[in-house]
Amino acid sequence: MKEQLSWVEISKKSLSHNVSALKERLSNDCLFCPCVKANAYGHGLVETSKILLDAGADWLSVNALYEAEILREAGVTAPIYVMGYTLLNDLEKAWNLDVRLVVYDLETVVKLGEIARSRSGDESLKLHLKVETGNNRQGVEVEDVVSFAEEITKVEGLELEGIATHFANIEDTTDHTYAFKQVDRFKEAANLLREAGFDNFIMHCANSAATILYPETHFDMARVGIAAYGMWPSPETRVTYQNLNKNGFSLKPAFVWKSVVAQIKTAPKDSAIGYGCSYKTTRDTRVAIIPIGYYDGYDRHLSNSSYVLIRGHRAKLLGRVCMNIIMVDVTDIPDIELEDEVTLLGDEITAEMFAGWIGTINYEVTTRVNERIPRVVV
Ligand SMILES: Cc1ncc(COP(=O)(O)O)c(C=O)c1O
Repeated sequence: MKEQLSWVEISKKSLSHNVSALKERLSNDCLFCPCVKANAYGHGLVETSKILLDAGADWLSVNALYEAEILREAGVTAPIYVMGYTLLNDLEKAWNLDVRLVVYDLETVVKLGEIARSRSGDESLKLHLKVETGNNRQGVEVEDVVSFAEEITKVEGLELEGIATHFANIEDTTDHTYAFKQVDRFKEAANLLREAGFDNFIMHCANSAATILYPETHFDMARVGIAAYGMWPSPETRVTYQNLNKNGFSLKPAFVWKSVVAQIKTAPKDSAIGYGCSYKTTRDTRVAIIPIGYYDGYDRHLSNSSYVLIRGHRAKLLGRVCMNIIMVDVTDIPDIELEDEVTLLGDEITAEMFAGWIGTINYEVTTRVNERIPRVVV
């Protein structure tokens, strides 16, 4: 008998393989900082972070402070870099959690100054200045980095530990001219800082695509998300990898989403299946009911178009994806039984295929599987 209606199996072996494969691309003194935001891209924040750290990750990066808090509560002591905005109200908490914060608003530095003056301890807060190099979503203009850095170091208790930037157009194309213009802007910012006397900061900009493709983007730390989970950032990244005549690098997906057969019934030929009667059987059809739906992250655009795996056979989705249920055709699957295991995503159903079915990217596929569904490390 099964214990859950649905669960996600996370492969420790695959995650560890990915960490080793990615670290091999970095020089020994380059920090490996997996991105575990968005529930570790859906893989489960705490369990996945611990596996990544055991496998050799040096730092972790998250989007929001609450994620760092969960990790600290779970006993994670590794450096944590918060890449998203931290509310002015939460800055004191950030300091207490001993995280690294990205900064790009002077208001944040001013507020940190007020907090610094009221604190008694002598632990400094480490900040990473985000440089605007062409993504136009967070960042300080290159021309302003020196004055911004001076505002930081004016405050006793604040430390400029790093500078960061993020690529706008590295996964979506095989032409990386724009990405390298960003690298140039980033280096220019670093030079301006060095000329102004700041010489002790780390530099980081490499995401998965940059880490896989271009050693000259690695600098002092790689913030790798999707590839750590065994997925390529895009087909374009794979093509570029091949065009660069590289080989020997492999990734292993670590995510298998499962459920169970919750009913088996026969719908005679010409029966309508599900809401809107959008599917009509063309033969006497054995239908299996699976107890997951769009609430769980099984996208409604999969209606009438995907399939699941049961006993190694493909079972086509019939009708619309409901909030909590899908129906599949098991007419040709012999010996099927109640509570048989169903693979919804993973194995031969890759996140890339799934993304193709619903018109999105693999990143969104795994991150959208509801956090409430248990992640089980296998
Ligand atoms: C600032 C930042 N750095 C690194 C990453 C990791 O990117 P990827 O998953 O492509 O490796 C992300 C992901 O969105 C990000 O926002």
